[in-house]
Amino acid sequence: MGLTAISLEIPKVPKVDDERLRCKVFGKTLKHPLGLAAGFDKDGIALEAWENLGFSFVEVGTVTPLPQKGNAPPRLFRLVEDEALINRMGFNNEGIDALLGKLEERTVTIPVGVNIGKNRETPIEKAFEDYEICLKKIRGVCDYVVINVSSPNTPGLRELQKKSHLENLLASLKKIAPNERIFLKISPDSSDQELKEISEIARKLEISGFVATNTTTAREGLNSPLQNEEGGLSGKPLRSRASEVCKKLRMYAGEEMEIIGVGGIFTGMDLFERLRDGANACQIFTALVYRGPAAVALILQELIECMEQKGISSIEEIRKSASRCPS
Ligand code: FNR
Repeated sequence: MGLTAISLEIPKVPKVDDERLRCKVFGKTLKHPLGLAAGFDKDGIALEAWENLGFSFVEVGTVTPLPQKGNAPPRLFRLVEDEALINRMGFNNEGIDALLGKLEERTVTIPVGVNIGKNRETPIEKAFEDYEICLKKIRGVCDYVVINVSSPNTPGLRELQKKSHLENLLASLKKIAPNERIFLKISPDSSDQELKEISEIARKLEISGFVATNTTTAREGLNSPLQNEEGGLSGKPLRSRASEVCKKLRMYAGEEMEIIGVGGIFTGMDLFERLRDGANACQIFTALVYRGPAAVALILQELIECMEQKGISSIEEIRKSASRCPS
């Protein structure tokens, strides 16, 4: 299912609406905890379709100050045997000004987050400026902002996760938009020590929280012949590492920080577990490719079944049930 198809003929799929699924994140009560991850709709061209597919929030981007084409195709690979994708898109997008127009004219009621990055040509020493340009333009126009320093497909980008860079970057962004809800998108390839340092910086600078995780450069345990393609791996093989990172961030960053859990969530049970790992809400990308347009409805129905089996009647209760449900 392609983005153009989705935006042209908005598919009608059954919606799951159940009081037990309400959850609170970025200062709002969401209908349920499942949103669309960044990268599917980089330019915000299909916002109505995402609402129609049942997502409770959507993250657009990654968007950069200037439009850019991204890497040359082929740049997206389906690892069918592994229920995974490898992508090296390289932030193909129409630029922040085009996105701004789309955001200003939007009619959807679901929260929209904007994920921002740097142009490929911007040297790493000047990367701050790219984030500042994007943030200045979108502050006040969206529901949350995500600082993407974790994509493996823009050379040098992950350098910005290092303590010295990150502290300066986040401090300058907080200064520009002190009232904006700013999240940091985390790499699953960060070490424990790095996660600890990132959490300390985020707490100190009063960042709202994390989106965890982006795609991985790791390639263990795959069966597909395409496994050696360069890029970021997403989908089922990412699930256990993304879950571990979510738990660690919750432990290091404390209860106040909000965590949007993403990576390998395909089923209601996966969603249940990620909430139990400490996520406030979650996102999917690869599951939408493999399970199709009904993915949200299917996953939410499975989540309700899972909750009923365990005698749990709210998302908050799942989040508090960690000690009761050993994995
Ligand atoms: C992504 N992802 C991504 N993330 C991001 O922060 N900015 C981006 O532009 C993109 N682009 C992108 C393109 C493609 C083709 C894929 C498959 C993924 C990462 C995505 O938001 C998510 O973090 C990972 O895909 C892990 O979640 P899933 O796919 O395992 O549910």
